[in-house]
Amino acid sequence: MKKKTKYNYQKKKKGQSKTLTISLLISAIIMTGLVIWLGMNDWSVEKSTKSFQKVINQSAPVVEDSELAKEEPDLAEPPEVEIGENEPEKQSPVKEPVKPATTPVKPAENDAKEPEEPVKTNPKIDNGGYIEGQKLPSEPTYVQEILIANKKYPLPSTFAPGEDKTARAAFDQMAAEATLSGFKLTAFSTYRAFDYQTTLYERYVARDGKEAADTYSARPGYSEHQTGLAFDIGEVNFEKHWASSSFGETEAGKWVAANAHRFGFIMRYPEGKETVTGYMHESWHFRYVGIEIATDIFQRNITLEEYLGI
Ligand code: DAL
Ligand code: ZN
Repeated sequence: MKKKTKYNYQKKKKGQSKTLTISLLISAIIMTGLVIWLGMNDWSVEKSTKSFQKVINQSAPVVEDSELAKEEPDLAEPPEVEIGENEPEKQSPVKEPVKPATTPVKPAENDAKEPEEPVKTNPKIDNGGYIEGQKLPSEPTYVQEILIANKKYPLPSTFAPGEDKTARAAFDQMAAEATLSGFKLTAFSTYRAFDYQTTLYERYVARDGKEAADTYSARPGYSEHQTGLAFDIGEVNFEKHWASSSFGETEAGKWVAANAHRFGFIMRYPEGKETVTGYMHESWHFRYVGIEIATDIFQRNITLEEYLGI
């Protein structure tokens, strides 16, 4: 019995010293490793810690810069004004003329968040269909590279391009072809300077009152005639139909309505689209936009506003 106890005691002692030896061995390995690691990192604790972290991180998946880089924000800017209750439903941002990309898109540094949306306001529309308190801009508005002038998008008072030469050449061509059908066309009003539009509008207000004038005459800065691209068309020797709805009933008026698009002109204020354009139907007022767009607008029976989605 005693022998057995002694034997057990010796066995226990032997086991303890074995554990101690293993622990010492592991500690020695760790210490040696640490010393080697420190030596490899110029004996700097900071450097050693950093390179240790690096080794750990390498086991995690690496996200390439290109994956983080989001597309550059669209050049499209939000409209200066938002749609009002009385305006057409469809409203899309005014786009600056598309600029060709010359440099590759630079990825956002550190942060790939989208820019915040600017706060949009809902402006009030007055009785004439204009945005209350709107000031004339310092630059004209181009939507899809088309110069726009309407009750929402005015022109600077200083914008004075004169009559557009391309539009004039297109009109002359149309007039030449119209003579083959027996009509002698003339453009009795084309480019109008800001000051002249002011005089005209004030005259109409004095005659018919502001509300009525707003249905057929643009306020200064808002007239398409100031772009040099609007042509009021009539027939030579038939002045009584000039700027009158009766022009649309004449054979010449019908010919122009059916053929203007072939020369790049659109009837700008069609019948039934008064709430879209903001003006009563004008069978004589045509706007030059180029043959392709004019043909598309004509065939789809839409307005320039609808074509541009503004
Ligand atoms: N008659 C058109 C709307 C203008 O005054 O420009
Ligand atoms: Zn006109």
